[in-house]
Amino acid sequence: MSSSGFKFTLLVPLMVACLMASSASNFHNDFDITWGDGRGKIVNNGEVLTLSLDKASGSGFQSKNEYLFGKIDMQLKLVPGNSAGTVTAYYLSSKGSTWDEIDFEFLGNLSGDPYILHTNVFSQGKGNREQQFYLWFDPTADFHTYSILWNPQRIM
Ligand SMILES: *[C@@H]1O[C@H](CO)[C@@H](O)[C@H](O)[C@H]1NC(C)=O
Repeated sequence: MSSSGFKFTLLVPLMVACLMASSASNFHNDFDITWGDGRGKIVNNGEVLTLSLDKASGSGFQSKNEYLFGKIDMQLKLVPGNSAGTVTAYYLSSKGSTWDEIDFEFLGNLSGDPYILHTNVFSQGKGNREQQFYLWFDPTADFHTYSILWNPQRIM
């Protein structure tokens, strides 16, 4: 990986609530709602960011700052039932033509068929590191914490 900074983005076609871990932080200061036509909201004096889905579309947000390394914990509960065609994507990306990127995507499926968790890592604009996982629990039954850790040694 190059040493470029990452911005992180969450594009979510479903209900999610995010809490800032540090009380000094504030979603108003650190994040922009990037799309969603009112479905994405920052509430509780900037402590909580919520994204939701309706029949038309979802919503998303993006960090204002870039981060060289870090760990992000995201609590998500995915769309139940027939979720085919919905993609819940969470990604970190640097800028430029030779960008770095870490992708975390949940691909919706027909009722009864499992979601696939799809990941990829780009370095200097090159991906080809796709991995797919079948989850060992039902991601639609409850909120679960999904984490990305990246530091100079590894991406987990
Ligand atoms: C949906 O589930 C089926 C059955 O397990 C699987 O073969 C297929 O790859 C899944 N599709 C997606 C988009 O996750």
